[in-house]
Amino acid sequence: MISALRNIGETVFNGAAIWGEGLRSLGQLGMIGAKAARADGGLRKNIGPELKSVSGQRKVFEVLRAFSPNLSLKRQLVKSYDNTGTVIVTRNNDCIEVLDRNEDFEVVYGSRMRKLTDGDNFFLGMQPGWDYTRDTSAMRLAARQTDVAEIVLPRAKLLAGDIVERSHGKIDLPAQLSLQVPWDMTKTYFGVGGPDAATMKEWTSTLFWYLFEDLPADPALDQKAMSYAAALRDYLDTAIADRKANPTEDADILNRCLALQAADTPGMSDIGIRNNLLGLLIGAIPTISKACCYAMDELLNRPDELILAQSAARAGDDATFENYIWEALRFYPHNPVIYRRATRDTVIARSTFRQARVKKGQMVFAATLSAMFDRRAVEAPHEFRVNRPFETYIIWGYGMHTCFGAAINKAVIPAILKPLLAQRNLRRAPGPAGQIDTGPTPHPQHFHLEFDA
Ligand code: HEM
Repeated sequence: MISALRNIGETVFNGAAIWGEGLRSLGQLGMIGAKAARADGGLRKNIGPELKSVSGQRKVFEVLRAFSPNLSLKRQLVKSYDNTGTVIVTRNNDCIEVLDRNEDFEVVYGSRMRKLTDGDNFFLGMQPGWDYTRDTSAMRLAARQTDVAEIVLPRAKLLAGDIVERSHGKIDLPAQLSLQVPWDMTKTYFGVGGPDAATMKEWTSTLFWYLFEDLPADPALDQKAMSYAAALRDYLDTAIADRKANPTEDADILNRCLALQAADTPGMSDIGIRNNLLGLLIGAIPTISKACCYAMDELLNRPDELILAQSAARAGDDATFENYIWEALRFYPHNPVIYRRATRDTVIARSTFRQARVKKGQMVFAATLSAMFDRRAVEAPHEFRVNRPFETYIIWGYGMHTCFGAAINKAVIPAILKPLLAQRNLRRAPGPAGQIDTGPTPHPQHFHLEFDA
């Protein structure tokens, strides 16, 4: 009886708090809109950047969670993959539901993946079935989780420490550190680092943009992606042939794939190996770098938490230090949504007041940023807390397609940031240089930081 009353009380309290948060964010968005309307160029010109910023997105999601948790729009927000409209899903339960129902909500990337491989799909573009099982099983044998502690992490720590030490108190985070460490991983651990670092960073960042972030379907980007994909395929074909002609004993993913091929493992033909490596490469470099920049940006915006994260880094308290990074990424995650497409007419959140119809062909945005701020699932979501269970964080996907590199991310992101955060008086460089600069791309190009060397 007492627990029933407590449950009712909690439900009423949470409901009221969610409405309160929604109203507060609505008011703040109104003020942002009024300010944008008064600025040079008016509302249309100035509102976009405000709403695209992560704090703007959090406010919009707060309003939606309160007043329209599953918002169905006729408008196609994604032009790069066929669809008939959009549903924005904002509550934690409902996002999880979408990402768990693979048969109803399919991954859409297959069409562009096939353009990049000039033929076959890559497993992130596949639905459940034999092809997905074959490729992920083979690649899990090639990229073993034990490699992270034995091979990837020691190398990342050494390299990051060395780069920070040689920077003498001034560092451009993406250009010097957070792209370089994952690139080095592709060279030394994947065994396919490209003709040189700059080329591989450029290829993978552009192809990642093309696959996942090109919502308007930009024809110029399409053209560039096609030429980079052809160059990457040629490079990989040659690297595979060279390695077969000149075998090595290196414990890298390419050698493991070739050993699987020698054992007649399904999916491990030369083309199969090439396509799997191509997909892994695209996922590995720009993502780790962007996440490092966002976590650092969030911590720099929070002086109190920054001091505590730095103390943990200096004290070698890795568990606490890492929790600062995961919590920073909750506030400023690499991607705010994951999108899927409905394969049939269906409903989300069945038998609830927020039950929403989804039409076949509609793109469904599972707003993972919003899910991590839903107080029904996350306690005191607006507080920066470092004692949350790791399952709170949906920072690299959820369900069947959860990031293949999850264990790598958990090790390498802290390894990159720790030597920097351990420095005295770490700060942004003065002026715009100390802010993330993405240039014309969706990825951080420059972010200048300083510390007392
Ligand atoms: C912080 C860094 C990273 C972030 C934020 C990230 C993000 C994600 C997300 C959100 C997904 C799910 C996409 C979806 O469901 O539509 C995903 C899947 C994937 N990621 Fe990552 N990723 C990161 C690093 C990496 C690395 C280092 C690799 C390669 C070693 C990688 C390879 C993949 C692959 C192959 C998949 C597809 C998994 C599957 O379909 O089963 N990612 N990643």
